[in-house]
Amino acid sequence: MRGEVLVLENVVKVYKASGVETQALKGISLKIYRGDFIAIMGPSGSGKTTLLNIMGLLDKPTSGRVLIDGIEASRLSSSELARIRNYKIGFVFQFFNLVNRLTVLENIEMPLIPRGIPRPKRVEMATAALIKAAGDPSWLPKKPSQLSGGQQQRVAIARAIVGEPEILLADEPTGNIDTASSKIVVNTFKKLNEAGATIVVVTHNPEVAHCTQKIYIIRDGLLVNIVDPDPSKCILSA
Ligand SMILES: Nc1ncnc2c1ncn2[C@@H]1O[C@H](COP(=O)(O)OP(=O)(O)O)[C@@H](O)[C@H]1O
Ligand SMILES: [Mg+2]
Repeated sequence: MRGEVLVLENVVKVYKASGVETQALKGISLKIYRGDFIAIMGPSGSGKTTLLNIMGLLDKPTSGRVLIDGIEASRLSSSELARIRNYKIGFVFQFFNLVNRLTVLENIEMPLIPRGIPRPKRVEMATAALIKAAGDPSWLPKKPSQLSGGQQQRVAIARAIVGEPEILLADEPTGNIDTASSKIVVNTFKKLNEAGATIVVVTHNPEVAHCTQKIYIIRDGLLVNIVDPDPSKCILSA
């Protein structure tokens, strides 16, 4: 039990859309331990996003179990689920998912609002998170649309880590940004991991996957292989 942050047992996910069933996940079992830094790779449509959404308690499996810190997710009420998601899980998306009518500061502090943290403390925490995510405090009063894609992704990472979640889940975080920004994002993940964060990153980019500790290969809804990365192929080495 010790050190297991996330356990998936025989997770199956079937989508039903207008009478058509898609088996997105066909029985995936895995364990994520505290301090792990894992990449998930696989062809488009193989179930990576579905898997990450289930890991992050954003979606429920059709069958199988998900345990977070030993607690079975299916036993939680929706308010308990929301609370666990807020405290334990940080999410980073390919298209950043920032709210454009809010400032960068308001975006980053969003996860702190349900926790009832007073504003001065929120500003302090948001600023610290942005710096940790390799962002610049001068961005705080701006709107996300005034920043480049790579900068917006750093803001999104700050939002994901501001509440110091146990586990950071990232779905193709470098899929929509340039190489220089990708390096900054990967470097941030590496530093966060070295400071104790547990990270799972879905990526198409082998140069990103090779920066992690283990590469899980999924194909057609199944975990088919676990590969050791080659650090010399990491985007940060060169
Ligand atoms: N909301 C949904 N409704 C119906 N089918 C879906 C839905 N989301 C994903 N799928 C299907 O499930 C499979 C896995 O999708 P996804 O998890 O997005 O894969 P990946 O992230 O690896 O590209 C695909 O066949 C996709 O079309
Ligand atoms: Mg996907």
